[in-house]
Amino acid sequence: MSKQTKKEILLIGGGKGGVGKSSLSQTIAVYLKQLGKNPLIIDADPQKTSRDWVEERRENPDLPNIPCIHATGDIRQDIKDALKSYDYIIIDPCGIDPNNLESKEIRSALSLATRHLVPLRPKRRDLKTLRQISSIVDTAKIHNPNLICRAVITQCPSLPNQAYRILEAKEACKSYEISPLSSITMHRNSYDDCDENGCSVLEYEDEKAKEESIALIKEFLEI
Ligand SMILES: Nc1ncnc2c1ncn2[C@@H]1O[C@H](COP(=O)(O)OP(=O)(O)O)[C@@H](O)[C@H]1O
Ligand SMILES: [Mg+2]
Repeated sequence: MSKQTKKEILLIGGGKGGVGKSSLSQTIAVYLKQLGKNPLIIDADPQKTSRDWVEERRENPDLPNIPCIHATGDIRQDIKDALKSYDYIIIDPCGIDPNNLESKEIRSALSLATRHLVPLRPKRRDLKTLRQISSIVDTAKIHNPNLICRAVITQCPSLPNQAYRILEAKEACKSYEISPLSSITMHRNSYDDCDENGCSVLEYEDEKAKEESIALIKEFLEI
């Protein structure tokens, strides 16, 4: 009997705009592609950040094509259709904010997701969204009890006297029973610079950004 690859549905989101959802979705897709897997990004944000990024990369023949579709609203059927052709579905939704409390994309994706990653900057305004995220996750787990939900602290300050902010952010996640990854991302210009070239940090010249991203992905996917 042939060994079947376990399919994974990854939702990267929950927090506010700007926390790094699209960057992380793109980096995960590139990493899986480098491992010879077949990922698909579902860009579920009306801003179409990931779809634009994929289109920009197409202009560079040296970069592998990352398949991407755009879907909004209830995306359950889009996910089910995608599972017929792809082993890893990476969902990049828009942020949760007071104007988007319904977050249909996030709720519908969470009903099918195998893993959920919640990026948060170590800032009070981001951490304030934890209450709402944990409530959405708790509801999702009623019908999807095997869902694995992890937080990741992103864009961390490198100044030693600011390290307490990272620790406090991790404690805040734990207080809402969302276990933070030990991996974090630091605030680095290379995340913006690589985006301008249609690539991910894994395809760029900043070795530290590469290392932190790979550690994060491996820890999140348990590979
Ligand atoms: N670790 C990081 N350090 C510095 N800038 C980052 C980092 N991660 C992402 N960014 C930048 O922050 C901005 C928002 O990231 P993005 O992934 O679009 O967030 P979201 O999808 O959550 O709105 C982008 O300009 C991106 O390049
Ligand atoms: Mg985005």
